Amino acid sequence: MSDPQAVKTEILRLTREYSRQVHGAFRPAADAHRQAWQPGTTIPYAGRVFTEDEVEAAVSATLDFWLTLGQEGEAFQKELAAFLGVRHSLLVNSGSSANLIAISSLTSPKLPEARRIRPGDEVITVAAGFPTTVAPIVQVGAVPVFIDADPITGNARCEQLEAAYQLGKTKAVMMAHALGNPFDLAATLAFCRKYNLWLVEDNCDALGCTYSMPRPLAESLGFTENSPGLDEGADRVVRWTGTWGDISTQSFYPPHHLTMGEGGAVNIVRDQKLKVIAESFRDWGRDCWCPSGIDNTCNKRFGWQLGELPQGYDHKYTYSHLGFNLKPLDPQAAIGRVQLRRLPEFIEARKHNWETLRRGLARHENVLDFALPTHATAWDVELGFSWDDSGCRTNCAWFGFKIAVKPGAPFSRTELAQELDRNRIGNRMLFGGNLLRQPAFVQMRRDNPEALRVVGEMVGSDEIMSSTLFLGTYPGLTFSMLEEEIRVVSEYAFLFASGK
Ligand SMILES: Cc1ncc(COP(=O)(O)O)c(C=O)c1O
Repeated sequence: MSDPQAVKTEILRLTREYSRQVHGAFRPAADAHRQAWQPGTTIPYAGRVFTEDEVEAAVSATLDFWLTLGQEGEAFQKELAAFLGVRHSLLVNSGSSANLIAISSLTSPKLPEARRIRPGDEVITVAAGFPTTVAPIVQVGAVPVFIDADPITGNARCEQLEAAYQLGKTKAVMMAHALGNPFDLAATLAFCRKYNLWLVEDNCDALGCTYSMPRPLAESLGFTENSPGLDEGADRVVRWTGTWGDISTQSFYPPHHLTMGEGGAVNIVRDQKLKVIAESFRDWGRDCWCPSGIDNTCNKRFGWQLGELPQGYDHKYTYSHLGFNLKPLDPQAAIGRVQLRRLPEFIEARKHNWETLRRGLARHENVLDFALPTHATAWDVELGFSWDDSGCRTNCAWFGFKIAVKPGAPFSRTELAQELDRNRIGNRMLFGGNLLRQPAFVQMRRDNPEALRVVGEMVGSDEIMSSTLFLGTYPGLTFSMLEEEIRVVSEYAFLFASGK
């Protein structure tokens, strides 16, 4: 074959054929060609879900061999931003990098002095969760101030925000929507508006979750529009999580709502200035915003005078921040673009799987506590959720199915986890539990007691650490896998309930 395009077409045809033959177990559970799960084999808590489309996209982009972020990356950024309805999405190489860029951006001298995070300033966060929601706060020289988490929702106890505030010190709130359960955005936004604080939403586990509030409340917080494709009627505003704060972050590591192997994104919700700053931190700290391989987008590459550089010094090599290089590769973006097209189906699958597990395990409420979405007060087999009287609602694209072993139960969380392991059922803790008890944070405090601040007792976070685990809800779980999970948990719970 002498026509390179024909060679590529043939390679991609064979790639699809290969992938169909070997990757059948990774197809979405609802796919007709999905390889059946074999009883007795592992049921992962999460993982890649893909078809030959993703493999073809990866191979095609690899053959093009642009390698660094290029056309596919550009397209992915636009498509993700359009899906969420945010001003910009910047692709990065992980969710942790996204958090690092998000908080670093708020230290920029390009921001108004009163709002800029300076060394020693405080950022309010939550004690229970994933370490790299918090570590970047420390890495930029700020002080994390911890509030507690609620063991049922897994989210911050937002009523503690006021107690965490310090005039002149507090600059931002940065928290995650735990396991795909939105935190109380109405309370958090009201607090941020009151004191003119930034809100960074770590949306790594919550792509596809929505939060809604009555229109007058939304308008009082500055929101008039729904996110694209969402509607709960004229008297409510409904938006994706990750679009309420100033900046939000995504992870595209395999267990997350969509994957490109490694990857993440920083979403700039409204403010164009934050986009330029975040991009600078991602791309070595440079002042220039030309895409890779392009020069002179500003039309005055040799016309700037910044810092103490000589007039006309090359803008491409002018650095306004102490930045990083946290870009992913273009083939990753190519995979992500296919995954993004599947996102609506993935979101529905996660909701459906959570519901199946909740119904299947409902009779074990004597020994197990199940998660409630923020603002829900109860769940009932017939009626679904009941809601508090805030008027706010959450709709969770669950990252996981959270179970807490009740205090009086005749088995512990660890014993339940061991039973699940014996039966090859993937399970995880709520990440680091109470992060303050992790060796890294204990050491940090020992080295410098002023390096962090804790507001009250972290009772809920400790409870999450000692009594909680979660099962998967990812779109690769077939009905027989979910049935097996329900059988194993039920037999274990009944064994004890019957006193054997
Ligand atoms: C809430 C939260 N934030 C950040 C991250 C980090 O994402 P990544 O693994 O892509 O660095 C994770 C990872 O799972 C997470 O759960």
